[in-house]
This record gives sequence, C-alpha cells and structure tokens, in this order.
Amino acid sequence: MADVKIEPMNRQYVLAKRPAGALQEGDFSWVESPTPPVGPGQALVRSIYLSLDPANRGWINDVPTYRPPVGLGEPMAGFVIGQVVASNRDDLAVGDLVEGDGGWQDYAIHGPDSAIYKLPPGDDLVARMSVRGVTGLTAYWGLLDIGEPKAGETVLVSAAAGAVGSIVGQIAKIKGCHVVGVAGTDEKCQWIVDELGFDKAINYKTENVMKALGQHCPDGIDVYFDNVGGEVLQAALFRMNQGGRMVCCGVVSQYDTATPAPGPHGLPGLLVVRRLRMEGFIVMDYADRRDQADRDLAGWVADGRLKYKVDIIDGLENAPKALIGLLHGENTGKRMIRVSGETV
Ligand SMILES: NC(=O)c1ccc[n+]([C@@H]2O[C@H](COP(=O)([O-])OP(=O)(O)OC[C@H]3O[C@@H](n4cnc5c(N)ncnc54)[C@H](OP(=O)(O)O)[C@@H]3O)[C@@H](O)[C@H]2O)c1
Repeated sequence: MADVKIEPMNRQYVLAKRPAGALQEGDFSWVESPTPPVGPGQALVRSIYLSLDPANRGWINDVPTYRPPVGLGEPMAGFVIGQVVASNRDDLAVGDLVEGDGGWQDYAIHGPDSAIYKLPPGDDLVARMSVRGVTGLTAYWGLLDIGEPKAGETVLVSAAAGAVGSIVGQIAKIKGCHVVGVAGTDEKCQWIVDELGFDKAINYKTENVMKALGQHCPDGIDVYFDNVGGEVLQAALFRMNQGGRMVCCGVVSQYDTATPAPGPHGLPGLLVVRRLRMEGFIVMDYADRRDQADRDLAGWVADGRLKYKVDIIDGLENAPKALIGLLHGENTGKRMIRVSGETV
C-alpha cells in the first residue's frame, strides 16, 4: 500500500448553539485542530461524502430522538462515506471504504464500538450514498414492508422529488400502482412525471392539495408515504380508503421551527371508521435484511427501472448553508457534500 497522506489539521463544524427557530449558519462554528492520533483498536477515516438529511436538524435540538442530541461544542453528527487512512483495528485496513457516523469533519476516529460498515472495494460511492444506501433502503422498507402496496392501488408520496420520495414513487410504479407525488415547484412536478414515470404530481405551494387529491386520486388513496407531516398529511388523511396504510417516514415540514404545528384533525376517529393503519419506522430497524433490499435496488437500477438524481455540493465549508437549503427545498434528489476525493 502506498504511503497515505494525512493532513495535520482536521477541519470541523461544531455545534455552537441550539437553533432558536429556523436553523442559521451561525449555529455552527468552524474549528481546525490537530488530526487525532490513532490509538490501539482504532482506525482513522477520511471523509469523502457527507450526507445531508432533514433529520440533522432534529439531532441538534436538546431532545433525544432515535439518537442522543449533538452536544454543544461537539462536531456536528452526519452520515459519512470515507476511506480508512490509518488503522490499528484487525477488521479494517488502510484503503478500505466504509460508511458510518463520521460527522461534519475531515477525519474521524472509529474505535471498536463504532457502528461502521465496510463497503466493497471499488464501490460506486455516489450510488451508495443515495439509491443503494440509507435513502434507497428507507424508501424500499417503508413502502414495501409498512405500506404493503398492491398492483392497482393508489400510492401518494410527499417530498416526492427529494431523495427518499423520488425512489418511493418509482418502486410503487414497479409494483404496478397508480402513483401521485407532492412537491414544491412546477419543475420538480414535471421531473417526477416526465422522467421518473409518476402518473400525476401536485405542487403543494400553488395548488389546493385537498382538491387536487380528489382529481388525481379518483379512487382514493391506499398508501400514503408521508415525508412531511403538516398540511399535506392533513389533506391525505381525509382521502384515505378503507384499510389504507399511512407510512410515517419523516416530518420535514415541522423540523426547522421552535413551534411545530399540532397534529392533524380527524385522529383517531378516521383511523377507526376507515380501519386505517398509521405506522412509523426507522431504516436501521431493517439493518439485518439489507442484502435483500440491496439486490432489488441494484437490479432495478441496472435494468433502468429505477433512476436517481444527486445534488453534490463541493466543500465541507458549505455544509451549514447546504443543510439550510435542503430544509427549504433547494434540492432535487439526494443532497450530499463532497468533502474530499478517493485517493488511497
Ligand atoms: N424513517 C427513517 O428512517 C428515515 C430515513 C431517511 C429519511 N427520513 C425522512 O424522509 C424524509 C425525506 O428525507 P430526504 O432525505 O429524502 O430529504 P429530501 O426529500 O431530499 O429533502 C427534503 C425536502 O422536503 C421538502 N420540504 C421542505 N419543507 C417542506 C414543507 N414545509 N412541506 C412539504 N415539503 C417540504 C423539500 O422539497 P419541496 O420543494 O417539495 O418542498 C425538500 O427538498 C424526511 O422527513 C426525513 O427525515 C426518514
């Protein structure tokens, strides 16, 4: 193995303060400190791609979610694909590609208890960060295991031009469903219909969603894949068919505020009379079934039935601005930061 250059300084964003309402760039501080030495049983991983996720916003509130909150002064947490550049671990060698929580920084130390997974050599890292990684797996398991769509049924998905939503709609088409997407611009609506094969799209910013659902889901909704909560969830709830399934994947309309809106009207009454199921999930719940999902996702990408779009922003220094933009709908497809190249 050739010598590996390790930069002497580790650039990081740390959490400077908890947001008071909408996230601001100044909620993070840029820090440069010596790259940490590798201790016994540890590996040093250099970040290549950093995932930006709406849930990042939730992790910096002083409230535990499915993970403890990021502490003040700590590096911002984030899902990273990177490369091992030094290792005292028996299971990791210099040059290995890995994924895990590396945070908003150039280098991260991973000890024996760190949840880090080795990727195959030569893996397509952009696909792994999007359609074949957390994004694709979230769409796959949420739709197929919780939503249980059947051919001929109507599937509605929100944030439909985003990372997860764009994959959900295409899998629902593969399963033979009538698919309607909700997105925030006409361009996004056009993309999911013209390029991804959705049957209809609704611009929730310019259309009356309740009325548009009546037009585009004439037989009602059997599966609603909810990425956003709020007003779209409210409208979908009243259009659900008897026996319908509501997949609670995320609540992006409510993350970036100190005053989240109350939950929808009609609960629990509508669940009772229409025999609806409303169920949340976290993609990690399916970690031990990854191979099955990966085979299907890779197969659909290879045969052209599953397309994906990525929105790559260069430079760790742009992470706060890029996360704020994501929360405001700047992205189409999966947004990520290119922190460095693959060089080992
Ligand atoms: N349960 C899990 O394990 C899991 C795993 C991954 C992600 N998620 C969740 O999945 C959802 C989508 O995540 P993603 O990574 O694919 O992000 P994304 O959809 O690529 O990006 C977020 C999108 O949300 C939309 N949005 C922002 N504010 C909105 C509002 N007020 N109302 C409606 N839409 C709004 C924006 O698009 P528009 O232009 O359309 O507004 C934006 O592009 C999030 O809720 C996330 O937390 C859950």
